[in-house]
Amino acid sequence: MNKPKRYLITSALPYANGPKHLGHLAGAYLPADIYVRYLRAKKEDVVYVCGSDEHGAAITIQAIKENTTPRAIVDKYHALLKSNMADLGISFDIYHRTSELIHHQTALEFFTALNDKGDLIQKETEQFYDEEAKSFLADRYIVGTCPVCGNENAYGDQCEKCGTSLSPDQLINPRSTLSGKPPSKKSTTHWFLPLDKHEGFLREWILNQHKDDWKANVLGQCKSWMDLGLQPRAVTRDLDWGVPLPANVEGGKGKVLYVWFDAPIGYISATRQWAIDNNKDWKPYWHDKDTKLVHFIGKDNIVFHAIIFPVMLKLHGNILPDNVPSNEFMNLEGDKMSTSRGWSIEMDDYINDFVKKENGGDMMVDALRYYLTQIAPETKDSEFTWRGFQDAVNSELVSIFGNYVNRTFVLMHKLCKGKVPPLHETLLDDADKKIFVDILETKYKIESLLETYKFRDALYEVIDLARKGNKYMQDKQPWILAKTLDANPDNQKLIDNCLHICLQLTANLAVLINPFLPFTSKKMCYMHKVVDKMLDWENAGKPKLLSVGYSLRAPELLFRKIEDEEVKQQVEKLNNKKMAMENAALKPADEKDAVIAPVKSQIQFDDFSKIDLKVATIISATKVEKADKLLKLEVDLGFEKRTIVSGIAMHFAPEEIVGKQVVVVANLAPRKMRGIESNGMILMAEDKSGKLHFVSPQTMIDAGSNVS
Ligand code: 2FM
Ligand code: ZN
Repeated sequence: MNKPKRYLITSALPYANGPKHLGHLAGAYLPADIYVRYLRAKKEDVVYVCGSDEHGAAITIQAIKENTTPRAIVDKYHALLKSNMADLGISFDIYHRTSELIHHQTALEFFTALNDKGDLIQKETEQFYDEEAKSFLADRYIVGTCPVCGNENAYGDQCEKCGTSLSPDQLINPRSTLSGKPPSKKSTTHWFLPLDKHEGFLREWILNQHKDDWKANVLGQCKSWMDLGLQPRAVTRDLDWGVPLPANVEGGKGKVLYVWFDAPIGYISATRQWAIDNNKDWKPYWHDKDTKLVHFIGKDNIVFHAIIFPVMLKLHGNILPDNVPSNEFMNLEGDKMSTSRGWSIEMDDYINDFVKKENGGDMMVDALRYYLTQIAPETKDSEFTWRGFQDAVNSELVSIFGNYVNRTFVLMHKLCKGKVPPLHETLLDDADKKIFVDILETKYKIESLLETYKFRDALYEVIDLARKGNKYMQDKQPWILAKTLDANPDNQKLIDNCLHICLQLTANLAVLINPFLPFTSKKMCYMHKVVDKMLDWENAGKPKLLSVGYSLRAPELLFRKIEDEEVKQQVEKLNNKKMAMENAALKPADEKDAVIAPVKSQIQFDDFSKIDLKVATIISATKVEKADKLLKLEVDLGFEKRTIVSGIAMHFAPEEIVGKQVVVVANLAPRKMRGIESNGMILMAEDKSGKLHFVSPQTMIDAGSNVS
């Protein structure tokens, strides 16, 4: 397209059904944020919208899992996602939510407009139905075996293992998640978007007009979808959570918009809300063809953003996306990243472990942004490893970029009185001049890479420029020149030239790294004693960003090393989390949600030491007459034998416990139970299902042994 007048940038609305992991961050949020920061630095008119996707079965299923309401789920996770994204420097202009009234209104206006124009069709279909739960089943409520990879727990709309988009009919052995029974089918009427009618437009628009500027993975997925034959897609559902159809729509009672119909309209409602908040007009962003609309997404969202939503937008009279840069998946330490399997690093965990824990945690945000961009899955799946993170931070950020900036500042303070030294033009040699050429070339390369969504290559160029700076300084060796000053005072001019150039390079690096590592740039502005305005993109490539004679601050630590111990801890944490998830999955369903009794109020050690616990051996056990729950036990405490009455008759047969060793509260005051004096109490552990277990020594030991 011609030079756009304005940009509207979106990142996929994450479901507010749980924390999101670093794969999500690397896929749809970080690249968009880099792009937007670059556009803002260029002073473009840009609005970056996102928000929580709060409808659909992803939410209601989570509500069932957490034994709460969908409303409570979206409130909880919307707040978490919003704050996580802000902590990681994702600079949305608005982070909205689809449960807001303005979104419901916008989505319904959209639906009604299409319906009134006859762009939607109504069809009676057979839908999966759970006879026991008396409920139609959304695709997500049906699980079964994935026909592509054999995953036995694939959802009716998608297999989370291989990423394939599915329909419930494709599942082998489908079962309802509500009752666990195979679902039946029942007829119901729904509204459909007849995608098949738009195949001609889609083929021309995607495969012809965008064949050169869309990524191969996006074009490939679109083509295979179209080659399989486009079908009408249902845009309504029989559900009670979502955007309800208006009362005046005949047959709409009890139906809501399908989440994949309303969610992308969330980009529009977010823009509307942003416009209200900022006293702007939202319409040009969605109607003027000079607006460049770009959707950043992960690969599981391609068809929705490249095929279905564009058809909706076209029918509704909106502009179409100029591009849909989609990333592939980011794996983790050799396996697919998945929150539900416990094999993931949640954004929230990273923030707690690295950002909030330490002073200057912002540097750890940038460290993460650096590594995730460096390994971004732009053309194929990539892999996050903690060792890789450590290597990237230690050997590139710390050793190249951080080291270059630090050395420049230290030497400037030492050899140039803490000020930007003059440039002695007549003494400039080829190496000096080359640095200015390098800066300018790097700027152009970065621009062209960012404008074609190649973020990892663009970031590489910034680091490479710092690498060149290091080499330049190493070759010039101003610290050696400094030793010759007594004999040759004119060498100060060579020192000045070297450090002048190095400083102009650090200022340029601050501008160039800003879209990627904004916290680092900010710190560099502080060190250069300049306002953030220096970071305007037009300043990149300028040889005189810093004025001669200007005094600069002392260097700040830009990055810190990642220690082996931290890598070890994180890998251990990951393995433990996975094991805990696997154990939880193995437990019978009725045990899973059992509540652990809260810890009682605190006692002092003196209170505890008053209790005399001793090992005893049960020497006889008999039922207590007319008391179903009680057993009368004779126990040997080593120094004496005692009678204890214990409420364990429902759990143990008398004959099976004779000879067992148990722990007894030996100094408990005697108490009469059913006329029998009980002298002590036997300690028992109760598991989540309510079953009792003796607390016993691992091997037989002397009766009377103390327990402490
Ligand atoms: O896949 C997902 O997480 C969806 N919630 C993405 C929605 S993107 C857009 F359509 F809103
Ligand atoms: Zn699969």
